[in-house]
Amino acid sequence: MAQGTIADIGVIGLGVMGRNLAANLADHGAMVAGTDLDAGRRAAFAAAVPNGVACETAEELLAALKAPRVVLIMVPAGPAVDALLAALLPRLSDGDVLIDGGNSHYQDTRRRAALAAEAGVHFVGLGVSGGEEGARRGPALMAGGTADGIGRVAPLLQAIAARAADGTPCFARVGPDGAGHFVKMIHNGIEYADMQLIAEGYHLLRHLGGFSYDRLAETFAAWNGGELASYLMEITADILRTPDPETGAPILEVIQDAAGQKGTGHWATTTAMELGMPAPTIAEAVHARCLSALKGERLRAADTFPPPPPAATLPETFAADVGDALLCGRIAVYAQGFAVIAAGSARFGWDVDLAAVASVWRGGCIIRARLVDRILAALTRAPDLPNLMFDPDIGALLARGEAGWRRAVGAAVAAGQPVPAMASALSYWDGYRSGRLWANMIQAQRDCFGAHGYERTDRPGMVHTQWGR
Ligand code: 6PG
Repeated sequence: MAQGTIADIGVIGLGVMGRNLAANLADHGAMVAGTDLDAGRRAAFAAAVPNGVACETAEELLAALKAPRVVLIMVPAGPAVDALLAALLPRLSDGDVLIDGGNSHYQDTRRRAALAAEAGVHFVGLGVSGGEEGARRGPALMAGGTADGIGRVAPLLQAIAARAADGTPCFARVGPDGAGHFVKMIHNGIEYADMQLIAEGYHLLRHLGGFSYDRLAETFAAWNGGELASYLMEITADILRTPDPETGAPILEVIQDAAGQKGTGHWATTTAMELGMPAPTIAEAVHARCLSALKGERLRAADTFPPPPPAATLPETFAADVGDALLCGRIAVYAQGFAVIAAGSARFGWDVDLAAVASVWRGGCIIRARLVDRILAALTRAPDLPNLMFDPDIGALLARGEAGWRRAVGAAVAAGQPVPAMASALSYWDGYRSGRLWANMIQAQRDCFGAHGYERTDRPGMVHTQWGR
């Protein structure tokens, strides 16, 4: 039971993320009030945050907060956030700050920020990355909202955020209203695509290269010690050396090959399309999860359509080629993601500082990777770079890995092994660096069947041809 207005921040929603963020806030000296509809979760909060204020209702929580009140909402994205907003707004006062730390859609956040502003309340859409461990020990935090609103909570958020290697907190105000959740959505799109690349790398080495799990674990661990170092690479090496506690078999052998998803990769893909900015590898990663989920159909098709026979010998360089494909693919994926953020920023007038986004992604988040240091350096050198692949340092990495990348994709294609992320990233790169593409044919077809008109190469303006059919 709350007594007096003593708490610095209230957390509504004490599931895994809410409870761990609350404990993290308490570690950094904040007096935290927490509430949840579920009594078990309230009890877990009381145990995890012994000096916290466990409240039975949101009203009680609001009464326990110092003014101006700061409330962090950690409930599932969607209608639950709207319901809470409707319940809280009439009870909040001018200058209070409401933070949504869930994976909300940025358009919802834009709408909610406008609604809150009418009531004089600052609404902060906060992208939180790092899972349970990140929430507890240091997440990456991408905030969208008014400078004033975020300014009020910045000291708290900075304190609980992860630290980059140079000690900088992995927290930034990336822009107004929906910008924080937009950046988090693209973070997740990159997460999907990098996970897919890594999964393809594992699958190729295992099923084409015939690698044992020990050798796989060694290979991924070695990659994690070099240019490919990343959190996802590190957990992959750990996964590869993990036995199933029930059978003792490598755990991957007993895990069903049908991937789940909660929707942020899908949002990243549709948003990229709405903005007209290509993000094919992010899209492929979503499609690949959908394809994997068609397990029954795949089993039937596997019986019906056997794959081509594997090549008798693989190139000596096969493992290194796969590594090149992973690094070049990763570069293409981050390039796609940053290009979509730049496009979103331009569309909504957010003025997102891409270097600040890269800085936040150096620690705490799922996509933290050595490559992000190079990206930060590139964006610091040239903030208006149209695409990360133009940076001489990043371009040199691509040039170094390109031949191996092509060999890896070629070997997979020849053997009938699906590599949608590696191949789409390569086509993105090949398309991006092609001064003349196939789109002249598309334009001719559009004009032929629909009189859509086309531009000529030799003079400006739209023209139409009488195709004589
Ligand atoms: C993070 C993650 C996290 C996301 C999960 C689940 O940054 O900590 O992106 O926010 O919700 O990774 O995503 P899927 O269930 O869609 O794979």
